[in-house]
Amino acid sequence: MTTKLIRDAIMMTMNTTDDIVRGDVLIQGNRIAQIGRNLQVEAEVTVEARGRVLLPGFVQTHVHLCQTLFRGQADDLELIDWLRQRIWPLEAAHNEESVYYSAMLGAGELIRSGTTTVLDMETVHHTDSAFRAIEQSGLRAVSGKVMMDYGTEVPLGLQEKTADSLAESVRLLEKWHGAAGGRISYAFCPRFVVSCTEELLVNVRDLSEQYGVKVHTHASENRGEIAIVEADRGMRNVVYLDHIGLARPNLILAHSIWLDEEEKRIIRERGVKVTHCPGSNLKLASGIADVPEMMALGIPVGLGADGAPCNNNLDMFQEMRLAALIQKVKHGPMAMDAKSVLRLATMGGAEVLGMEDEIGSIEPGKLADLQLLDLEDFHTYPSYDADWHSRVVYAATRGDVDTVLINGELVMQGKTVRTLDKAHV
Ligand code: GUN
Ligand code: FE
Repeated sequence: MTTKLIRDAIMMTMNTTDDIVRGDVLIQGNRIAQIGRNLQVEAEVTVEARGRVLLPGFVQTHVHLCQTLFRGQADDLELIDWLRQRIWPLEAAHNEESVYYSAMLGAGELIRSGTTTVLDMETVHHTDSAFRAIEQSGLRAVSGKVMMDYGTEVPLGLQEKTADSLAESVRLLEKWHGAAGGRISYAFCPRFVVSCTEELLVNVRDLSEQYGVKVHTHASENRGEIAIVEADRGMRNVVYLDHIGLARPNLILAHSIWLDEEEKRIIRERGVKVTHCPGSNLKLASGIADVPEMMALGIPVGLGADGAPCNNNLDMFQEMRLAALIQKVKHGPMAMDAKSVLRLATMGGAEVLGMEDEIGSIEPGKLADLQLLDLEDFHTYPSYDADWHSRVVYAATRGDVDTVLINGELVMQGKTVRTLDKAHV
């Protein structure tokens, strides 16, 4: 088992007492073995971290790696037009190779900006390519093929038969769930109610229980989307998902902006999880999710950049900053402070994925998913009593990330991402 020592870091542990401590981290294999001051241990690899900030890797609970190549597409359209006119035709044109490069570039970009775990949604076809890229990139991911068996607007190339969609999902699940030493997991991804038959959704409910995996979908993102669901199913999104028995603790809803009181009650009572995507919600003019209210209700909330073309970025530093700023505008300066936002980006995401015992904080026994930030150019350096939460949320950028470990592996070092060298892409 390889041992690594990160020496003399300023650790923002994100543990339950939110301790910020100076010291060393000993990594054995893929886990954090020990934390302490001046550890007297021999390690095969030593990373000098003096004056640097060590954070848990970010956990993004909603991305689309297959969309990384689609940036700058129709930046001024709202969701449904953007999907119909640009994104769906582009997804339909994807091939094995383009999905692979899209996922590989997306994974590299995520790692470069400190994200170590994602909940990802692919497109209808070529999902093996995305999993191959994830496997090679070193990223920790829960991912799955998108499911779309309904809707006249969906291009021919993305239309599936219900049985085929289910069979292909199960084939992928059996091949990839638990792959790469447990770093890769599968999730069923019915895209949204708009593109799914009830038969498909009911089968996803049963199969996800049978296999013990997550269900990842979009819900209540856009008022046009909600109107389509109401006209088609006679109910609001979350009420419908509950009606067919899908509102369960393994369900993760991206966006959840336009929830009414009944939908909030269902989410809370059924243990459904939510992902907030502030950059995407602003750029697609979808709206502002009431995250402080959801958090006050005890609903687990994570943070995600959504697909690259939703906000032209996969950078969690930008998402954190936007998440904090838009709530200040909506609810005042105390609505969501830097600590709560940093929590969303780390432990919040871990809880949404049910991985709170494995990732999201720096604690002995947890998986070694870590990022080291080089904040030396801050003019307050080396003042150790700075408000580190505020500095990271409001001032740090992805350019400050120097080193990233996932599963104990150095996937980025000296600002170079291992898989973005010429050998791979
Ligand atoms: N709803 C259904 N599909 C999508 C997608 O690809 N992106 C976003 N933002 N919302 C969706
Ligand atoms: Fe999305």
